[in-house]
Amino acid sequence: MGRARLLALGLAALTLGASACKETTLEDRPCPPEGTTLTYESFGEGFMDAHCQSCHGAPTKDRKGAPSGYDFATVEDVRRWRSRIFSRAAADNTTMPPGPDDPPEGEREKLAEWLACGAP
Ligand code: HEC
Repeated sequence: MGRARLLALGLAALTLGASACKETTLEDRPCPPEGTTLTYESFGEGFMDAHCQSCHGAPTKDRKGAPSGYDFATVEDVRRWRSRIFSRAAADNTTMPPGPDDPPEGEREKLAEWLACGAP
């Protein structure tokens, strides 16, 4: 195999690797111009309770390794960690929750919209 070909292959592998690791961030997702109808009461609280708080809101021994301080019990907590919550669980980000149970389809998109609009 020629050097140019090898180089091209290497570059292709690098590009693939980089795109696989790329996360969607809060900055990538503006709030829609018409805003959102989602609120903490109608969506955010239930989402965090159902999918995050079993580890993040638990006492130290039951947290399954979730770092202390990352609790999402109130709307203020969620707003404080808005950008990190987005990067781990919203839109096409699926590294949280880590378990086998994924939020139902569409829920991550709702989370993205709600966070993008400031978690009202
Ligand atoms: C089964 C337990 C468990 C559940 C459920 C869980 N997490 Fe985590 N979380 C962890 C562990 C373990 C870590 C530390 C390792 C890591 O960062 O991957 C962590 C770390 C984090 C961090 C801090 C690190 C960072 O990237 O800033 C954030 C934010 C986070 N999780 C968000 C969430 C969100 C949002 C949910 C719900 C959609 C969630 N987690 C559900 C176990 C859990």
